[in-house]
Amino acid sequence: MTTEVKNAQDVASMVQAAVDRHGATLEALVPIVSEINRKLGYLPREALVEVSRLLHMPDSQLFAVASFYRMLSTQPRGKHVIQFCESAPCHVMGGREVWQALQVALELEPGETSTDGKWTLLTVSCPGLCGVAPVMVIDEDVYGNVVPERVPEILARYECTGFAPAQARVEPFGLNLRTGRGKALGPRRSGRSGDKARKGGQ
Ligand code: FES
Repeated sequence: MTTEVKNAQDVASMVQAAVDRHGATLEALVPIVSEINRKLGYLPREALVEVSRLLHMPDSQLFAVASFYRMLSTQPRGKHVIQFCESAPCHVMGGREVWQALQVALELEPGETSTDGKWTLLTVSCPGLCGVAPVMVIDEDVYGNVVPERVPEILARYECTGFAPAQARVEPFGLNLRTGRGKALGPRRSGRSGDKARKGGQ
């Protein structure tokens, strides 16, 4: 979920708040731009220029950082950003079928944003949650042990007006990246439909 910013002053205020929170140091650069990216959905040029000014670093360095991390974007993204783990452990645990279910449901290719601006679909490298593969992250909500059959249900949670997963977040199989809240990601139960799908997909 992103914050609507109306003008350049809003952007400048947001950047200043992020710099105040994390400190005007080079070490704080990634947390600063990550916070701005999370709030705005992307990093507009004016935000990067403002960060550059406050941290006394060249614009070019900042744009290089913004381009390096896949979690960051210099282009507007959808209201909800799906990051799907494409690394091998997720793939062999059924990620391919989950990915196909996502593409069918959203009709998007990797890196695309839906025409209604609701979804951006990204593939990412392992976020380190292989124990609950396959894994995908929607905004800041982590979903582990995902099976294709659950994809429509998971996406539907973000369709409901007024539902804010970033606050709701008690997931039986996940946690929130920002708050760390959520139940433990326990071992996969045997005999689930997802296990079946995985075996069938190998
Ligand atoms: S390979 Fe997907 S979380 Fe590690």
